[in-house]
Amino acid sequence: MRKENLTITKQRALTSNIMELTCVGPLASEMTEPGQFLHLRVGTSDDLLLRRPISICDVNLDEQSVTMLYRVEGQGTKRLSVKQEGEQVDILGPLGNGFPLEETQPGETAVLVGGGIGVPPLYYLSKQLKARGVNVVHILGFQSVENVFYEQEFQELGPTYVVTVDGTYGSKGFVTDVLKDQQLSFDTMYSCGPTPMLKALSTIYADQRVFLSLEERMGCGVGACFACVCHVVGDETGTSYRKVCTDGPVFPVGEVVL
Ligand code: FAD
Ligand code: FES
Repeated sequence: MRKENLTITKQRALTSNIMELTCVGPLASEMTEPGQFLHLRVGTSDDLLLRRPISICDVNLDEQSVTMLYRVEGQGTKRLSVKQEGEQVDILGPLGNGFPLEETQPGETAVLVGGGIGVPPLYYLSKQLKARGVNVVHILGFQSVENVFYEQEFQELGPTYVVTVDGTYGSKGFVTDVLKDQQLSFDTMYSCGPTPMLKALSTIYADQRVFLSLEERMGCGVGACFACVCHVVGDETGTSYRKVCTDGPVFPVGEVVL
């Protein structure tokens, strides 16, 4: 992990509030683990001093480039969204422990379940699993048709089911409905998305090989400030915890309280 200024080579809107940002620099060569994240400093004013955590969505090691997808939420992501090609972004990373690829053997099936802005880290994961000879199946959940992104990109890697809460695109409902309706069987599940979705998956698939990526508010991103702690399941004393930034963001199902 180190800090570097990467240069923006491309920034474009995928939907009304989802941006795709590609940057180049030697640091990208170190981004080999899907599910890890980057900590971005996007400005110098007081409200922008804290870095913003954004997942690695894709890496091109030959071109030393990294792509991130982010939703424009508050001041930080707004500031990032107006940056132009040729400008630099101060990036610390890669941070955290990503998805364990070795848990799925070649020839086995992995189902990748993403919700909303939890979808991006699954793209680099899917590429790497496929390169290992794993069969990949994707379930991507969004609120509505106008929020859908990267369907084609995932389709190119394996079967992809899109589900929207209001039924305006794909099937209607939640990712759990797709798993049930399609009777999808799998050896490993990898997921990233909103906490209610992760909770539902961890209830239904508590006894299976499932890995969940958590999104917790962060400060330092490197284990020093305790902003991101979550409790360990079954700890009655309430003293055992994990730091999402350094122990996670990916945890096996049942390890931490969601
Ligand atoms: P503000 O609400 O103005 O932010 C104020 C402060 O709260 C900032 O310090 C900000 O970092 C923090 N904060 C606000 N929301 C979140 C949140 N959901 N998680 C963590 N910190 C938050 N978003 C994406 O769009 N794409 C991604 O790939 C992505 N990957 C993430 C990976 C990890 C490990 C984590 C923890 C979060 C990720 N997020 C991702 C969420 C993203 O970090 C927040 O949406 C972003 O920090 C909001 O910043 P803001 O300045 O626009 O919003
Ligand atoms: Fe500081 Fe995790 S964000 S300890």
